[in-house]
Amino acid sequence: MKILVTGGAGFIGTHTLIELHKAGHETVVVDNLVNSQKESLKRVSELLGGVEIPFYQVDIRDREGLTKVFQEHKFDACIHFAGLKAVGESVAKPLEYYENNMSGTFVLIDVMRQNGCKNIIFSSSATVYGDPAIIPITEECPKGHCTNPYGQTKSMLEEVLTDVQKADPEWNVVLLRYFNPIGAHKSGRIGENPNGIPNNLMPYITQTAVGKRQELGVFGNDYPTHDGTGVRDYIHVVDLATAHVAALKAIAEKKGLAIYNIGTGHGYSVLDVVNAFEKANGVKVPYSIKPRRAGDIATCYCNPAKALAELGWEAQYGIEDMCRDSWNWQKNNPNGYEA
Ligand code: NAD
Ligand code: UD1
Repeated sequence: MKILVTGGAGFIGTHTLIELHKAGHETVVVDNLVNSQKESLKRVSELLGGVEIPFYQVDIRDREGLTKVFQEHKFDACIHFAGLKAVGESVAKPLEYYENNMSGTFVLIDVMRQNGCKNIIFSSSATVYGDPAIIPITEECPKGHCTNPYGQTKSMLEEVLTDVQKADPEWNVVLLRYFNPIGAHKSGRIGENPNGIPNNLMPYITQTAVGKRQELGVFGNDYPTHDGTGVRDYIHVVDLATAHVAALKAIAEKKGLAIYNIGTGHGYSVLDVVNAFEKANGVKVPYSIKPRRAGDIATCYCNPAKALAELGWEAQYGIEDMCRDSWNWQKNNPNGYEA
């Protein structure tokens, strides 16, 4: 298939481009580079043995720019990663987050339908479950309250895409609810490149291990979990990438609306991850216990059985692989994509 990848220069996008090409698909990237650099796409080409991926530095809110891309290419489907994703920043700048994520997606799906492309895979998040009513979380688990504007945009865009599909059954909409993506390509050439102080656990661990941060703050050790620290379903970004390739099956089979949890089904606490990281890499991660972080929940991991049953997809990598590959990326690129 020929796939439009919005946000393709970012963390998950770059890894997905590789897996799409390995599976024989053709891709075109649209990204405004607000949270990424062109260098990431250069490295993707290198990893693919020199394959040139057409790239447009276009904001998805730019209707004219996007329409031009559709005039130059006939797409079978769109994988829609483009969006702002920093939870804390979304609390400080709600309007910017709603504007970028909501308006961007409105323009994108309108331009798609005007150009006869009605197949979309959308990057959603486990955050839509709020404090989950069922553990492990199945797709039937009711959606919950999102504590921040970023999460709200994911939840609302799920509703928008569901309504669009309901109104016009020619659409095929796949909502992938990612759990906690970490890790990096095994080459160490591409990986996660957060701006400023990382919010998420693994980049904070790797930056502490490489000496950029003094110590990791563990946010709370009084949760009702096996060691008191928060439990999450960490998934290797390469597994997440192959989930998008597998999700194209739901489009090929014209499933209409389909929702999948994309996780491993295993929950690890913050201290489990610190221990696994130290063991896998032979480096120390100094830490101290801090108060709970506002908006955090105790436990979040999924039942990924539906993705296996319907898409034939399941995660291949374990926590040691994730820790090894995250570290390999960080130590080879202490400043991310900057030279
Ligand atoms: P990322 O920031 O690395 O990638 C997103 C890309 O979108 C960036 O390259 C950015 O420049 C681009 N972008 C943002 N707004 C744009 C716009 N208006 N027009 C064009 N390009 C724009 O993030 P990621 O971790 O690769 O996440 C990809 C998607 O998955 C996002 O939608 C994110 O919300 C979602 N997601 C991520 C996680 C996670 O933990 N990383 C978890 C759940 C869902
Ligand atoms: C967070 C977001 C979620 C988003 C996801 C991926 C919140 C409340 N949730 O999820 O909306 O979809 O990132 O971007 O921000 N931790 C520490 N110290 C740190 C960082 C994290 O102890 O420096 C702990 C957290 O308390 C949590 C676990 O590590 O228990 C994972 O945190 P994180 O990586 O931020 O992911 P989530 O909170 O699951």
